[in-house]
This record gives sequence, C-alpha cells and structure tokens, in this order.
Amino acid sequence: MEFKEVVGRRRSIRFFEPDKPVEREKIQIILETARLASCAVNAQWLRAIVVERDKLPPEKLSQLKTPVAALTLDLAPVHIYFFVDLGVVNRIKGSRLKELVDAGALAPTHGWSHKFVDDFVYPQILEPMTRNREGYLAAACADAGGAVHNALLAAFDEGLGACLNTPNPMLTRQVFGVPEDWISLWVMLVGYPAESWEAGGQRPRPPFEELYFEGEYGTPFRRDAAVVEKLKAAKMIQAPAPLPGRREEIRGLAERLGLPE
Ligand SMILES: Cc1cc2nc3c(=O)[nH]c(=O)nc-3n(C[C@H](O)[C@H](O)[C@H](O)COP(=O)(O)O)c2cc1C
Repeated sequence: MEFKEVVGRRRSIRFFEPDKPVEREKIQIILETARLASCAVNAQWLRAIVVERDKLPPEKLSQLKTPVAALTLDLAPVHIYFFVDLGVVNRIKGSRLKELVDAGALAPTHGWSHKFVDDFVYPQILEPMTRNREGYLAAACADAGGAVHNALLAAFDEGLGACLNTPNPMLTRQVFGVPEDWISLWVMLVGYPAESWEAGGQRPRPPFEELYFEGEYGTPFRRDAAVVEKLKAAKMIQAPAPLPGRREEIRGLAERLGLPE
C-alpha cells in the first residue's frame, strides 16, 4: 500500500475476529518497524512483549484491563505490550552516539567526535537529564510513543487491524515481571478486523487551523484546499465518520460476536 493510503486507512479497530490467528511474520514486521524509528540520541528506550491472548492466564488478562480497555483485549488475538526502559541511558553512557559517529551519521562538520560525547554530551546533557525524573519520563515516553505509532501503521500496511490502548498502569509491570527500571507505556491490540476496513469512516479531528500555526502563535498555518484534494485523491484524507450504515454494522457485530448492545 502507498504510504499516504496507509495513513488514511489507519483508524482504531476495536472489533477483531477473535479466533483468526495473526501470522508471526506480520508481528515481526510490526516490531521491525518500531526498531527503525528515529530515536533521540539513538538510546532506544522502547521494549515490547508480544503475547497471544489465549496463552495469557485469565487472571492475568483481567489484571491488564481498564474500564476503557477491556473488551478490546478480549477480542484481539495478539497483544503487544510496550514498555519504556528508563535505565538505558545510564547503561549505555553515550555509546550509541559514538556508533553514530563511527557510522558517519554524526559528522565532525557538526561538532561530533567520541571525545565530544564522552566529555560533554553524556556527562553534561544525558546523565543530568535522567536525574530530572519528570522531564526524563516525558522525553523517553514521547520518544518511544513515536516508534509505536510507526509500528501501528505497519500493522495496517500488513492488512491487519489494530488499536492502541493503555493497559492497567498499576499492574502491567507486575503481570509481565519486567525489570525495575521499565515502565508500562501502551498495548497494541492486533488482529484481523471483524468490522469493515472503513470501520465507520475516518475519525473526527479538530480543525487544522486550530492545531497548527505559522511563524507565531495565533496565526493559523493556511490550509490549501488544493492540497486537501490531492490527499483525498491519494486516499489519505477519507470520508469522515460516521458513514451511513455504521449503527447497523455495530448491531450486526454485536449479534455475531455475542456482545452487549
Ligand atoms: C496512546 C493511546 C491510548 C489509547 N487508549 C485507548 C483506550 O484505552 N481505549 C480505547 O478504546 N481507545 C484508545 N485509544 C484510541 C483512541 O481513542 C483513538 O486514537 C481515537 O479514537 C482517535 O481515532 P482513530 O485512532 O480511529 O483515528 C488510544 C490511542 C492512543 C494513541
């Protein structure tokens, strides 16, 4: 699928074929995509644990649920639990930056050398950053989140449906017995959609000009209608939800999957 169409077709899928298995290869592709995302100082905070729903003991499955992420966990045959490894920066101490120097990605033209990393970047920027817990958490989670969003697109490119949810923040670490310095981020629920791929249409967003500015706060970035038309033609901007017949579709899914209406 073309990139713009993948972006356009992605929407949170919440109805899955509960018993249709997902090919292991497709799960690997999702993880490979996350791994190639850009990452601040190439630290690689993101970790993932892939589980088949049916291999999770029922008590563990229920510990992972929240009131807004319960049925989706029951329906999706594969769950990918994402974590942020907060310990990584002080374990690697700038070594991945030095790898980038050796790879010719960070060049002397821009001031980079092993010495710059060892004498300045790690001790003066990175190590102090980890001591400001709140700022460090925000930076690491935002970074890992970007990688997960790339991976989410890969699921759709592979013809799957997916949705991100936040699993129970109190119990997820404990359920999987992860190291002390990992924190739970999100779960990606993955499977073949039981709903149509349109899933009722592209979901609402605030107006473009309310979100993006030009030059200064208060001056909206002008949205060119011709570009919008081009993106519609490329299937990135699609018909907005709710499409006609969505209520009937949900009723049919409820009946078929034995769900409350
Ligand atoms: C980090 C994150 C956590 C989310 N958590 C939940 C959740 O717990 N339950 C849920 O139904 N949807 C969850 N969603 C899905 C959003 O509600 C969804 O993105 C929103 O409805 C926008 O629609 P779209 O994803 O279909 O474009 C989450 C999305 C993200 C990115």
